[in-house]
Amino acid sequence: MAEVPTIRWAIIATGVISYWFVEDLVLARPDAPVRHVIQAIGSSSKAKGEAFAAKHCPDHKPAIYDSYKAACKDPEVDVVYIGTPHSFHKQNCLDAIAAGKNVLCEKAFTLNAREAREVFAAAKEKNVYVAEAMWLRHRPLFKTLMKMLYEDRVIGDVFRMWSDFGREFDVPNLPSTSRYRDTALGAGTLLDLGIYSLTWGLTALRPRDPEERRVAQGARGADGVITSTTKVHSNPDMVARIEGTEGTVEVWGVTTSDPKYFVVYPKFVSDSGASNERAEGRRYEFATPGRGYTYEADATALDVLAGKKESDVMPWAETLRVMEIMDEIRRQGGTVYAADRA
Ligand SMILES: NC(=O)c1ccc[n+]([C@@H]2O[C@H](COP(=O)([O-])OP(=O)(O)OC[C@H]3O[C@@H](n4cnc5c(N)ncnc54)[C@H](OP(=O)(O)O)[C@@H]3O)[C@@H](O)[C@H]2O)c1
Repeated sequence: MAEVPTIRWAIIATGVISYWFVEDLVLARPDAPVRHVIQAIGSSSKAKGEAFAAKHCPDHKPAIYDSYKAACKDPEVDVVYIGTPHSFHKQNCLDAIAAGKNVLCEKAFTLNAREAREVFAAAKEKNVYVAEAMWLRHRPLFKTLMKMLYEDRVIGDVFRMWSDFGREFDVPNLPSTSRYRDTALGAGTLLDLGIYSLTWGLTALRPRDPEERRVAQGARGADGVITSTTKVHSNPDMVARIEGTEGTVEVWGVTTSDPKYFVVYPKFVSDSGASNERAEGRRYEFATPGRGYTYEADATALDVLAGKKESDVMPWAETLRVMEIMDEIRRQGGTVYAADRA
């Protein structure tokens, strides 16, 4: 087997996403471009950290710390992964950066754009890598679809899209300390779920490159309907529908963050109402190893090993664009976090 470089991770917090991420990191993958090592775990309690390590990465024998800061300071760690609720991201990032560490931080990157700017300024100052863990954008399905839409132009000019993310969380009956309920922890559907519908909208309608964006907006205009809810599960279902002048793409998945396949349909031509049958679409399936987090993990590791400071997939400017739009959505909807008043 070819020699591959090693990257050593500190995992901050032992909640749901941390274990999903770690279980993918430690997957046996003969074709992995990097060897991921779980070097350290930082948790609110040492017992939680030990239980987490025993259950999710027993072969890695990480150092267990009962403080996030201490895990960041472990000299053997190359990258700190942050899996705390949104409201902690800014401080956790700043602590990791202060320790001179590279960072991969869960979405939503921070509570608002101002906090994100603060983190990026600190990263620039310390010359370390920082990226938002927007795993959807790293998925081969997503990258293939964007290439087909904007390079191959399989459905012509994209002019309209729709995306929804619904998960039933029964928020009113959750404990008041739940991160889905407590606005001090960044509660609300937007930062948890809506960020994915928004990601589909921003990428399907508005490419990142400023010149392409100018053409997209100026020449053809584009409309999106982007929604999210914690009242009902809207999946498994279609998670996004993207319409162009020459056809339509439907994306299907387990959730809006976890697409499994998409179907490209040619333009529907109705012969004066005689037939309403849709032409057959072409289906593109994408299997993932584990839960699908290996792509962002490998990309982060390779970026760090190459000495990069930003991700090409999710650069700082794109995180800021998303955060600024979410700030405006919350402003219009009247959801104010204490951090907005700071
Ligand atoms: N990319 C994805 O697919 C995905 C999926 C789910 C969530 N996320 C993101 O990941 C982050 C965490 O979500 P999660 O679902 O993993 O949350 P979770 O299960 O509630 O876990 C959060 C962890 O953060 C730590 N923590 C510190 N202070 C806390 C507090 N006051 N309340 C709750 N937890 C606290 C705890 O770990 P310790 O006690 O060990 O310190 C806790 O286990 C969020 O930003 C979320 O948007 C991403």
